[in-house]
Amino acid sequence: MCLTDGQLVTDKNAFIHEALNKRKALNLFRRLRTIDPIDDVKIVLEGKAVINFSSNDYLGFSKHPALKKRAIDYIKKYGAGSTASRLICGSLPFFEEIEEKLAALKGTEKTLIFNSGFQANISILPALCDEESLILSDSLNHNSLIQGIRLSKCTVLKYRHNDHDHLRTLLKESLKKAYSRRIIVTESVFSMDGDQSDINALVALSKEHQAFLIVDEAHATGVLGPKGMGLSCGKGVDLVIGTFGKACGSFGAYVACSKAIREYLVNFCTGLIFSTALPPSVIGAVDAALDLIPSLEDDRRELLQKAQHLRSSLQLLGWDTGKSSTQIVPVIVGDADKTLRLARYLEESGFLGVAIRPPSVEDGRSRIRLSVTTVHTWDHLDQLIQAFKHFK
Ligand SMILES: Cc1ncc(COP(=O)(O)O)c(C=O)c1O
Repeated sequence: MCLTDGQLVTDKNAFIHEALNKRKALNLFRRLRTIDPIDDVKIVLEGKAVINFSSNDYLGFSKHPALKKRAIDYIKKYGAGSTASRLICGSLPFFEEIEEKLAALKGTEKTLIFNSGFQANISILPALCDEESLILSDSLNHNSLIQGIRLSKCTVLKYRHNDHDHLRTLLKESLKKAYSRRIIVTESVFSMDGDQSDINALVALSKEHQAFLIVDEAHATGVLGPKGMGLSCGKGVDLVIGTFGKACGSFGAYVACSKAIREYLVNFCTGLIFSTALPPSVIGAVDAALDLIPSLEDDRRELLQKAQHLRSSLQLLGWDTGKSSTQIVPVIVGDADKTLRLARYLEESGFLGVAIRPPSVEDGRSRIRLSVTTVHTWDHLDQLIQAFKHFK
């Protein structure tokens, strides 16, 4: 029984209905829809076959035979689960093998596997901060970073998206206060905009101000940088986070860092300490992905050419694709209702292009987030462009 000011609350679920009704009234209600894959790019959605332009499976790896085979091999060898957290008895032999393989590819001293990017982001930042710390966060950072920042309970300053002059001003001002540490947090490829941050400039700023730099490479890993290993490769970023659930076609995440930071996270990061380690099958698929990714330079080049073709064609038709320069191509519509209407029209025309609305993006910045993958053909792109051409 709940009491408010001594009065018995008659419907304890009222707040649930109120929140849902508010979302519906604003056209911001979300629901889960079953996606049934047909092949690498086609799916069935509510009985209709459509070409999927919304997945993060940028290299088409989720259905790659080598990943499926290695996942099965790992199950056969190690079983279906890891049985405990890494610190208890879940650190099966393949974890350190893959961490070493990944460190060699990333050019860092060490890496550490996490259960997901979300879990990494919500637990690494609180582990690194105390109440006297300062986080400087790009204003378009992903929600998982925002949640991690909230849990950090320290002072937070947002800098304007990719605006290094603003960041420099905030860093300079911060020197007047005795913060225990200053931590800059950014993505390298922004998940909803497909634009990139300037890692060299951020490393220089962080060095100049003795600030710690954290870069989330969720959408760059596998796609950009040397051997597809991300934009911060070899650039001296203190801590890089990446995910295995996007271009790597599987699930999970990693941190690339120094030996000391890895040891610190193993000792202080709750998301690693208090969660069962990833199952062998997931890591088996990641292992196969890491063997394939370095040699895919031609595929990556073509992927970016395709994305450029999509962007320039949509721009010619008058659509706003923001500052995208990667495989993520937003079509910024603005109004949530119109964005939903466009998403429905695309579906009727045979394409999945999901509408992204507030609170995932700022008010008035609703969009269709398109992502191009290596398994989309040029013809798929041209069909999609034609559909955009005929939207009224
Ligand atoms: C930038 C960024 N970081 C982290 C995550 C979370 O990663 P995961 O899906 O592995 O939880 C996402 C997911 O969309 C993301 O876009």
